[in-house]
Amino acid sequence: MRSTICVAWLAALLLSSAHCRDSVHVLIVYHSEAGHTQTMAEAVARGARSVSGAKVTLLPVAEATNENVLAADAIILGSPVHNANVTPALQQFINRWPFEGAPLRDKIGAAFVTAGGMSAGEELVQMNILHSMLIFGMIVVGGPDWRSAFGASGIVEEEPFKTQTGEVATPFLAKGEALGKRVAELAKRLSTK
Ligand SMILES: Cc1cc2nc3c(=O)[nH]c(=O)nc-3n(C[C@H](O)[C@H](O)[C@H](O)COP(=O)(O)O)c2cc1C
Repeated sequence: MRSTICVAWLAALLLSSAHCRDSVHVLIVYHSEAGHTQTMAEAVARGARSVSGAKVTLLPVAEATNENVLAADAIILGSPVHNANVTPALQQFINRWPFEGAPLRDKIGAAFVTAGGMSAGEELVQMNILHSMLIFGMIVVGGPDWRSAFGASGIVEEEPFKTQTGEVATPFLAKGEALGKRVAELAKRLSTK
């Protein structure tokens, strides 16, 4: 009887240690000058927070540190499109990440952008961010379907999507939320010890 209890207890212990952690950390860092990318970042954060157990940190790039990066299970970066490139502030943040010993290996990474126009650099900038993440050994993902294959993006200066300063049209915000949700869910699935 005693040995049966002991075996059952051991099995329960092993099973529980193989389970997903209860919580995962999702870090969202963005650069924004006129507020559009910040609005998109808030949508991404809403999506991530909708996943139970996801602890979400949302920071402008000027306030984000390498400690935030190291503590995260998943990192989602957002940039405006500037001349078809990531903004220097976001790239400088990435360039400061710790590299030796690959401490970011196997963290999940994803990207979002806002852009003035369609086909004026949005996917290039999403891919720039993902390329950098791959250098650090991260596992990069896009949104949940083909319409956000490289991450979320929002067009803000071209009709029919043109918005007031700082605003992003609802369909693009929905893509941002879906990206945040997917990344948080994947982080949970990868969080087995
Ligand atoms: C210096 C500069 C360069 C830009 N270059 C592009 C560009 O190449 N392609 C594009 O679609 N939009 C371009 N834009 C528009 C911004 O990407 C767009 O307004 C974006 O939403 C700004 O984000 P923010 O409001 O978060 O600063 C540029 C804006 C600035 C200020």
